[in-house]
Amino acid sequence: MSQDQLKRKAAEAAIRYVDGGIIGVGTGSTVNHFIDLLADIKGRIEGTVSSSEASTKRLKSYGIAVFDLNATGELDLYVDGADESNSQLHLIKGGGGALTREKIIAGASRKFVCIADGSKLVDILGEFPLPVEVIPMARSHVARQLVKMGGTPVWRENFVTDNGNVILDVHNLRIMEPAKMEQAINNLAGVVTTGLFALRPADVLLLGTESGIKTIEP
Ligand code: A5P
Repeated sequence: MSQDQLKRKAAEAAIRYVDGGIIGVGTGSTVNHFIDLLADIKGRIEGTVSSSEASTKRLKSYGIAVFDLNATGELDLYVDGADESNSQLHLIKGGGGALTREKIIAGASRKFVCIADGSKLVDILGEFPLPVEVIPMARSHVARQLVKMGGTPVWRENFVTDNGNVILDVHNLRIMEPAKMEQAINNLAGVVTTGLFALRPADVLLLGTESGIKTIEP
């Protein structure tokens, strides 16, 4: 099976968690499958809250309503992908640059179902460069602080987030204490969000593998 087919399988498994109401929708190629499948059952939900302009566009193309999070209150379910996950369901996210809105919706949701192909499960987070969204004027300052923390930050050039900020992708990290590192990076002046999701990890990880869906709950 191709990686894309495995992503599709994970998205299919997540559809089973949809039980009406307003669904939080993440961003990325795996979530795109989820949106395509959600279109088939759109009559069963009230609508969605979206984590990016790209997902909003796809949802609207199917005639699925997209609400402002300020108007919905807490959500029962958030479905999103990840770039890496460990077995505690601490994640690295933000490969697509949507990390800030993703983190907001994850925080506002009672259940966070993460969908991915099996290759995303790792023992130690950090092989995938950790995205950090930064206020543009703080880019060099934050980069120097990230170097002091042992990383090698690389400016994602020609990329602006949906919030008008820039991304530093931090290479060469072996993240042994994800929650501690998330807090330390959050504390740097100029950082909007780090793509580490450890303080609010996923609740369920659905992995598409050759032998079927692997469900991981901490
Ligand atoms: C978007 O900013 C990311 O957090 C995505 O959730 C992550 O990059 C996973 O993307 P894929 O589903 O395309 O692998």
